[in-house]
Amino acid sequence: MKFLHRITSGKYAIHSTSHQESDPMNIQKFRPFNILSCLLMAILPTAALADQALDKSREINKSVVEQIVDAQVTLAKGPYKGLRTNHTKGIVVSGTFTPAATASTLTKAAHLQDTPSKVTVRFSNAGGVPTIEDTNPGANPRGIAIRFELPDGSITDIVSLSVNAFPVSTPEAFLAFLNARIATTADSPKPSPVEKMIAETPSLQRFIAIPKPFPVSFASLNYHGINAFQFTNAKGESHHIRYRIEPLNGQEFLTPEQVATATPDYLFDELPRRLEAGTVKFRLLAQVAEKDDVIIDPTVIWPEERKLVDLGVLHLQAPVADNAAAEKALAFNPLILLDGIAPSDDPVLLARPGAYAVSVSRRMAP
Ligand code: HEM
Repeated sequence: MKFLHRITSGKYAIHSTSHQESDPMNIQKFRPFNILSCLLMAILPTAALADQALDKSREINKSVVEQIVDAQVTLAKGPYKGLRTNHTKGIVVSGTFTPAATASTLTKAAHLQDTPSKVTVRFSNAGGVPTIEDTNPGANPRGIAIRFELPDGSITDIVSLSVNAFPVSTPEAFLAFLNARIATTADSPKPSPVEKMIAETPSLQRFIAIPKPFPVSFASLNYHGINAFQFTNAKGESHHIRYRIEPLNGQEFLTPEQVATATPDYLFDELPRRLEAGTVKFRLLAQVAEKDDVIIDPTVIWPEERKLVDLGVLHLQAPVADNAAAEKALAFNPLILLDGIAPSDDPVLLARPGAYAVSVSRRMAP
């Protein structure tokens, strides 16, 4: 599948000291250090020091995406065995997707033609803490991950957030931000590492300023794809788009007083009740870029007046029977794509499959 190529090659490939030969870029980048560490290990007086050097060598040779996952685990005070390293607290529901007639004007992707698909959708809180209270500001932004399963068995995913921008433009900057947060403690001298990075990074300031109100429900919130994809239709015409996923009944938020009295699992208790009362519906839309819109930078919000094309409606019916098993088994990946949809060159998008694969392999480990 396309995404596997993306995981195993390119700048954000996953690699380790044991299989560097398969990644010449990595060897080039770290060869001086490897030679130095070999020499060091040859002359170090004790086995303990040699072990330390080896540990350091392994750390430095980790790919950016592995370092990001490690940093997410550290921030969440994990690891938490068998769980995701990010967006850890989630709920899985099932339903169907009915494509709109307008979808095929933009893409020939099979799930966006005339046949409905089965969908499995996971809503989640931000962060890597499995017990994070839904009322904690750190639980925003919320996540939605959608797995489309076509009648022929093929699958494709959309993984989005309840904000319309990412805080930084590259995985390296994301890692630096996570590390600045880790380095910041209650007694850090002012400005703390994280304050310093925010002061120096306008996109972080813009991200922090985006309102992140507490939703009444996971089903009363707009979600955004943030990263751009290239859609190509049957005539061979291509456009860059960003996804939007909007509840048919509109957005609804709690007042600060309601947040103060809401229970720690209010969103997770509310969704099954809502589904029992009736189907929850979201419209899937594509915001279409114009000629000069920035495609490869997820910190840049496209103008609101850009054309929105209806791609179809998600009908969510019920929580899946064994949520814990579904949580563990589902491995969403924004680059599981069908013909007619291709990734943009946004480096944040291209880093995501590698990071998700690291997280998945750790949670599947016995
Ligand atoms: C460099 C950028 C990013 C990194 C390194 C990253 C990393 C991760 C990791 C490690 C996971 C856990 C995956 C798993 O265990 O299955 C995750 C989950 C998630 N991420 Fe990202 N992420 C990035 C950017 C984004 C962006 C731009 C979005 C949305 C547009 C996003 C939305 C989500 C959501 C919704 C989940 C939960 C998926 C689920 O329900 O299984 N992430 N991310």
